[in-house]
Amino acid sequence: MYKLNKKDKKMRNLEVCLSPALVDLHELEGKIVVVIDILRATSCITAGLATGVEKIVPVATIEETLSYRQKGFLVAGERNGKKIEGFDLGNSPFNYMARECQGKSVVITTTNGTQAIKKSLPAKEIIIGSFLNLSAIVKYLQHKQEDIVLFCAGWKNRFNMEDTLFAGAVAEQLAQEVEMNCDASLAARQLFLQAREDIAGFLQNSSHVKRLGRLNGAEDVQFCSKIDKFDIVPILQGNEILPHLPYKG
Ligand code: MLT
Repeated sequence: MYKLNKKDKKMRNLEVCLSPALVDLHELEGKIVVVIDILRATSCITAGLATGVEKIVPVATIEETLSYRQKGFLVAGERNGKKIEGFDLGNSPFNYMARECQGKSVVITTTNGTQAIKKSLPAKEIIIGSFLNLSAIVKYLQHKQEDIVLFCAGWKNRFNMEDTLFAGAVAEQLAQEVEMNCDASLAARQLFLQAREDIAGFLQNSSHVKRLGRLNGAEDVQFCSKIDKFDIVPILQGNEILPHLPYKG
């Protein structure tokens, strides 16, 4: 009788969704989605939860965000990269690592990142990825069986470089363990291989880096390009994002 050997075992699939405008082309049901908004929503969420924020609730609108104030939440977010008037925090990772955020619950709305989280809701599981927790994300995915969708939040439905680079970094690290049948994952991987020696330098001419440069966000870009500063995996549970501690070993 023919015996199934290791080589014949069906590998799970990894796809990259390059923009929220393309998400309907990807089936999310039953899969793990990694939401990626390097500049800066998913980097802020990771940095905050790794340094003492208790939980983060992502919401789509400014009105909904404000409704959390009476529940004792810090109110956070940006539109077009700028802090929303009257909010406690903007969208710099340094805001979320400040002492005033320790032990606090935060509600956040952003131009692209929190919208991508909302669009991921049909998935089996939603986790939050950034360069700051790249290895923790890879290790977490290695412990799972489900197919993977790396969901780039982009900029207002457009492709962006930084999210694609991160998707490529994950694709590169999982390359031996997954099937990649979409050209987006192959392209993302190639782009990352070109950029890996100097992520921030590679991003220098990208649109959001230029935008953030005009908004005094250069320090944020440097910080968000750092690899493996934290080893948590933020996971959406119900409507809250909570920190998951790393797998040991
Ligand atoms: C977003 O969600 O669009 C970003 O995080 C924007 C930013 O922080 O500049």
